[in-house]
Amino acid sequence: MALNNEIRLQKYLSQCGLASRRKAEELIKAGRVRVNDIVVTDMGIKIHPGQQTVSCDGRLIVPRKQLIYILLNKPRGYVTTLSDPQGRPIVTSLVKGIAERLFPVGRLDLDTEGALILTNDGEFAQKVQHPSHQITKTYEALVAGHPNKDKLASLAAGITIDGRRTAPAHLIVLKRSKHATHVQITIHEGRKRQVKKMFEAILHPVLHLKRIAYGRLQLHNLETGKYRQLNSGDLEKIFLEFPLQTRK
Ligand code: URA
Repeated sequence: MALNNEIRLQKYLSQCGLASRRKAEELIKAGRVRVNDIVVTDMGIKIHPGQQTVSCDGRLIVPRKQLIYILLNKPRGYVTTLSDPQGRPIVTSLVKGIAERLFPVGRLDLDTEGALILTNDGEFAQKVQHPSHQITKTYEALVAGHPNKDKLASLAAGITIDGRRTAPAHLIVLKRSKHATHVQITIHEGRKRQVKKMFEAILHPVLHLKRIAYGRLQLHNLETGKYRQLNSGDLEKIFLEFPLQTRK
């Protein structure tokens, strides 16, 4: 909300998230809204947000903060915490020119790269991470050796790590080289080091790990260390399942 522009009182109230414009008009008519502590019932009044105080039923009405959503292609060597006692670089330092305090949605290990959402919207972050939403996360893992069909099937069915069985996963072998295999794996849990532990459990440790998607929101050709702001269409994709059976 531009702070130095005049704006109709009912529009201000609705932009602050108090109520719809029509409901805001009703609140004004009912004498429940005050500007600079004076009751205002005149519908034509305009205010200067930031220069006058507006309250409703005694509660100060202030502009909603601008909500920001960013998709970053995290490089290896960056921590996903907001500070690091060991002085390692933190992911938020890669985002320039945004005054809002951003934090990562979930985590990626120091040596994992790929898709990481940053936001200042705590409610959204909670929703994405809440198990009830079962957001799928898709990774490309380079694993040592050549896991056979049975081992991959055991990961897909669920395998015990840290004393608890993992939920079913989806795996596709993308490529085999002489000593390693590229596997795409989609999971919808977010346990710590989950993908690495799953492959450790079948004795094919992960050599390199990259998250390529949250739900259907994919990194595509976003370069390592670069980011882009997400729009509402992108945010919706997070809640859709990764298209199975396809290879990116
Ligand atoms: N699984 C892991 O093992 N590491 C990550 O960083 C993400 C998922």
